[in-house]
Amino acid sequence: MKVLVVGGGGREHALVWRLTQDPAVTRVLAAPGNPGIAALAECHDVSVDDLPGLVGVIDRVAPDLVVVGPEGPLVAGLADTLRARGVAVLGPSPAAARLESSKAFAKDLMARYRIPAARSGSFGNPEKAVAFVDELGGKAVVKADGLAAGKGVIVAHDRDAAADAIDACLVRDAFGAAGRVVVVEEVLEGPEVSAFALSDGRTVVPLTFGRDFKRVGDGDAGPNTGGMGAYSPVPSVDRDTEDAIWDMMRRTVSAMAAEGSPYRGVLYAGLMLTADGPKVLEFNCRFGDPETQVLMPRLTVDPAELFLACASERLATRTAGWSEDAAVTVVMASGGYPGSYPIGLPIGGLGEAAAIDGVTVFHAGTAFDPDGRVVTAGGRVLDVTATGATVRQARERAYAAVELIRFDGARYRRDVAARAGEEEHV
Ligand code: AMP
Ligand code: GLY
Repeated sequence: MKVLVVGGGGREHALVWRLTQDPAVTRVLAAPGNPGIAALAECHDVSVDDLPGLVGVIDRVAPDLVVVGPEGPLVAGLADTLRARGVAVLGPSPAAARLESSKAFAKDLMARYRIPAARSGSFGNPEKAVAFVDELGGKAVVKADGLAAGKGVIVAHDRDAAADAIDACLVRDAFGAAGRVVVVEEVLEGPEVSAFALSDGRTVVPLTFGRDFKRVGDGDAGPNTGGMGAYSPVPSVDRDTEDAIWDMMRRTVSAMAAEGSPYRGVLYAGLMLTADGPKVLEFNCRFGDPETQVLMPRLTVDPAELFLACASERLATRTAGWSEDAAVTVVMASGGYPGSYPIGLPIGGLGEAAAIDGVTVFHAGTAFDPDGRVVTAGGRVLDVTATGATVRQARERAYAAVELIRFDGARYRRDVAARAGEEEHV
């Protein structure tokens, strides 16, 4: 089987890495890929924002399966375009991807189908939005409706902060078209978890859980980022919670089918485990980044046939399988991230790091310089990933590898998965 992966970050490196270990896969291609992916797959230099360019590459190389990493091309319609050409693709149509691309759509669907989530309202009018904040008691989470690269969510602890966030979206246009509607919702409390499943439109195959670290600093200090680390499994998700979450995902997929937008692809629910049970914070229409970097090393079934079954509505008899091992990934980011940062800095120590037992270094934002050396090229640069018998062992290996990697200004969290080790007795 010939598989093409769309994207060029750490998530796609992890997908390519796992696909190359699948005996059914004869060739892996990537568009655009990155220097880490280039060691494993044939890379085609085309941006994920260039839909005609992607379709052109896919027409030329004729893969048996396309796996789409990021949400952008899905929301723009890549999956529909490919399906219309007879190409099997793992990823939903834009209508189904509204679960991620419009928070107002997702909230309305959850309310109508009684899928547990924070109480909320969607508003285009700032006065009405602020009145709803008052109804919630003055504390609220304000979310831009559309895609805002993880920056469109403000947790406001008082009425003034909520009113300012509403004004930023609806009046000052801080998020452009993505902020023309705001979702205002009650503040929930509890640990967060990311749940992943495959859906072919009817059947849901549960995958597994991961936990990511969204804030830039230790102890969850500082601004939100794309994700500074992750681990899997998440021992605090007990059996009942797990069943409740898969039930919520099944009901979401049934709801989408009933609404005439069957959901085919990876369904990712970001959840909060509240005192009243798990509640959905958001849906995403793709694999998580950096959660995929800790999922792929634990996946024990061959991915290509499973993904193809999902793409071709044949999930009914499938299941996934996961190793008992734990995996931890630590993101090494550029100095200054998530603000502005330099690029083009040489990276040393990659070979030594990868030589540690259980360690794989996924490339997130790297490039080759004119002399063919690997240099930094993005905010998140490397996802230093390790497996181990326990979260603690995986964590120790990942940090031992991080210590061997050098680039100027590198920043990383020192507490990724630290509490998993202590509180969850693993
Ligand atoms: P989202 O993009 O909707 O997942 O929101 C990003 C982050 O904001 C989440 O990971 C949570 O940490 C936080 N958040 C979102 N919604 C809520 C909520 N209703 N209550 C508390 N925190 C939230
Ligand atoms: N891990 C957060 C995301 O992929 O959106």
